[in-house]
Amino acid sequence: HIPVIAIDGPTASGKGTVAARVAEALGWSVLDSGALYRLSALAATRRGVADTDEQALADIARQLDVRFLSDKVLLDNDDVTEQLRQEHIGDMASRIAPLQPLRDALLERQRAFRQAPGLVCDGRDMGTVVFPDAPLKIFLIADVDARAQRRYNQLIEKGFSANLGDLSKDLQARDDRDQNRLVAPLKPADDAVVVDSSNLDVDQTVERILAHWRN
Ligand code: CDP
Repeated sequence: HIPVIAIDGPTASGKGTVAARVAEALGWSVLDSGALYRLSALAATRRGVADTDEQALADIARQLDVRFLSDKVLLDNDDVTEQLRQEHIGDMASRIAPLQPLRDALLERQRAFRQAPGLVCDGRDMGTVVFPDAPLKIFLIADVDARAQRRYNQLIEKGFSANLGDLSKDLQARDDRDQNRLVAPLKPADDAVVVDSSNLDVDQTVERILAHWRN
């Protein structure tokens, strides 16, 4: 059976960076499941589909023409790597993510990423819904201040403007939505290991996870 390391956690907990690094260390493939929600949001925006139109959103998700390359993401052959990271796209992703038809439409697409020799994936429901049989499930957390600071650094690095106070408020609103939604709420799987990265840098977090895998 092809092994999966499922990394779930709240927004800006560093899941994406950490998942990519763990995958690299093991020589496994990687799935950034949040990107699929962001891509659905972006595709909907481009087609003028409202964030409340469940059926149209599910159709968009099912038909996404997307390619994940090593350093970029293509939507309809268009490089959308930068656009995907914008806050308004992340925000729309989190507003459409509770819609069950959309989640159903993305389920098999996510499972198709499970390829030998292994998969590291990150998101909100990797361990609870998409890969419930994953042999290692990590629930990656960090306190709000640490996460706001990281998100701020990321945005500034990419040349976007950002305000720490606003980011912190947005983070908390997104946490609230992700945890309290009825469909696939953000919560650790029963067999998940909680890793708090508030005081760990990326290398240390990656090492922690690899140590759990080796044990
Ligand atoms: O940067 P952030 O962690 O907020 O974004 P992301 O991981 O790219 O995910 C964007 C949004 O998609 C999140 O706010 C979640 O609500 C949603 N999502 C989800 O519902 N399930 C997943 N497996 C991944 C993301």
